[in-house]
Amino acid sequence: MAERVLVTREIPEEGLRPLKDFEVTVLSEKIPERGELLEAVKGAAGVLSTLTENVDAEFMDAAGDGLKVVANMAVGYDNVDIDAAQERGVVVTNTPGVLDETTADTAFMLLLAAARRLGEGERIVRAGRWEAWGPKMLTGPDVWGKRLGILGFGGIGQAVARRARGFGMEILYYNRSRKEEAERALGAQYLDLDELLRTCDFFSIHTPLTEETKHLIGAPEFEKMKTEAVLVNTSRGPVVDEAALADALAEGRIFAAGLDVYEEEPKVHPKLLELENVVLAPHIGSASIETRDKMAVTAGEDLRAVLRGERPKNPVEG
Ligand code: DGY
Repeated sequence: MAERVLVTREIPEEGLRPLKDFEVTVLSEKIPERGELLEAVKGAAGVLSTLTENVDAEFMDAAGDGLKVVANMAVGYDNVDIDAAQERGVVVTNTPGVLDETTADTAFMLLLAAARRLGEGERIVRAGRWEAWGPKMLTGPDVWGKRLGILGFGGIGQAVARRARGFGMEILYYNRSRKEEAERALGAQYLDLDELLRTCDFFSIHTPLTEETKHLIGAPEFEKMKTEAVLVNTSRGPVVDEAALADALAEGRIFAAGLDVYEEEPKVHPKLLELENVVLAPHIGSASIETRDKMAVTAGEDLRAVLRGERPKNPVEG
């Protein structure tokens, strides 16, 4: 009998093709209720999850002893309890690489939009409040030629650096470990976090969310930044202390921010919603048609590999 696979949300069709030999249940496009999820996962050998599902010990136990693999359709896997998976012998996979360029596009889009006040401008035009061109209207800092500090210099951070080179930016980065090959290839320079914060004009965050990176950027870090600084976050919301960011923006301690991710998605800190100098996107970093197809296929293929007893391409190694 074919093994059971649960796909926790509707995903691009491409991702279901590798799963055609299994008995597949696909839940709806909406985020499933916890109870529905725990019921649906019973007896599953494989789960294709997304970042909105909390894949914890309770969920794995609800699946039962037959659960072999959780393929998370995201590069981030902070929604999966890796220790609980390892204790139960469940392989976890993610989708690195395929979304680097698309997410870097989003980061750069937010960086430009925040610096050049696109959100504010759009709101003025749509509200019929635009009266005329103005010599001082909606001016913001130049992006080209400035110093960009990249926090987290993995695939996405490096893809942002490639874009920044086209804008003649100076590329500085902070990472857990030095990336010397990438430094040479991209003309990037490593700085410790303190110096990066004090000297850069723009910041783009690309670290995974871990215990160490939670609130990596908070009130003390905003104090160190220049008042013209622009911060972009397309990684995970909790890497930035959202309340501290809202205060820093409201008090003019930094110039602007562009956010794609939030501490308690889909909630956004109410103070941020009131501010003009922040561009707010609804976690669409990887949301190109092509990339979402690739993410779904990557997850589907790895799930199939594990159920066939093969090694998946993207195992998450705790
Ligand atoms: C990820 O992959 O982790 C993104 O946040 C969603 O694409």
